[in-house]
Amino acid sequence: AHSIIFDTDPGVDDAQAIAIALRHPEIDLLGMTTTYGNVDVEVATHNALLLAQLAGRDDVPVAQGAAAPLVKERHPPPAHIHGANGLGDIELPAVRGKADPRSAARFIVDTVNARPGEVTLVAVGPLGNLAAALQLDPSIIGRVRQVVIMGGSIREGGNVTPVAEANMFNDPDAAARVLTAGWPLVLVGLDVTHRCVLTPAHMARIEAGQGELGRVLAGSYAFYRDFYHDFLGIDGCCPHDSCALAWLLRPELFTTARGHLTVATDGDAEGQTIFAPQGRTFIEERWSRTPPVEVCLEVDGQAVSDWIADTLA
Ligand code: BDR
Ligand code: CA
Repeated sequence: AHSIIFDTDPGVDDAQAIAIALRHPEIDLLGMTTTYGNVDVEVATHNALLLAQLAGRDDVPVAQGAAAPLVKERHPPPAHIHGANGLGDIELPAVRGKADPRSAARFIVDTVNARPGEVTLVAVGPLGNLAAALQLDPSIIGRVRQVVIMGGSIREGGNVTPVAEANMFNDPDAAARVLTAGWPLVLVGLDVTHRCVLTPAHMARIEAGQGELGRVLAGSYAFYRDFYHDFLGIDGCCPHDSCALAWLLRPELFTTARGHLTVATDGDAEGQTIFAPQGRTFIEERWSRTPPVEVCLEVDGQAVSDWIADTLA
């Protein structure tokens, strides 16, 4: 099984991924850490606690993290995409549990250090918590098993600016530190998440399979679907954050490349991921000064979307 910490800003597609992380027999969810992004961080924490509760997994710790980007001004949460409550503005039951008293960064550092070589960090929101953990204890670089990030875009273009993907755009300075830290890292970006469509038929199976949690997943999905219809002209939605878990458990469905990765932190390109494939020489050696990572370029989108529905049905 993969022992993971899931760093998240739930968020409709985050909620679907959280359900997988809570339910999949090959995932041992050590905890969730929350960040601002799709919603304010307090709302993110509330939603993470609620989703765990609805899955009967109140045992999973939730540690609250970044309320704003490291350096830049905070962008207002996109209420037209995820709803003001992050879950499509559906009515939600009361939350019983409480957040872990530790900060997200402290939780990450403690957990990684307690199990050297074992913990995979799966981050599907802006990267402030991972950046803060690196600052708190840089030695975790050599102790994590792997870092899997939903974010960025290699050839696909952006979804908040012509070049920037939302998680990168929401904290480019944190992203730059995390992507260039030198730990074993995989980027699961829009190149693959835009090839996956969770259809109404998929969601009907998920709703039937997940009880009270299914009601929340299906209700929030209905709201999110309107956005995707307008934005990409598809009937369904891109399950961005679940793709990070699909990569972890079904890597054979993806095509990847190795190279040097960073992100623009200023100007019109702010939040754009910049990828220099390994083995190619560029005029400036700055494009190869960071340790190489892996980026996803292609995917069997149908198979990944079916895998999500099969996991939760
Ligand atoms: C990413 O941005 C957020 O809105 C989604 O939850 C996902 O993590 C997609 O660009
Ligand atoms: Ca997210």
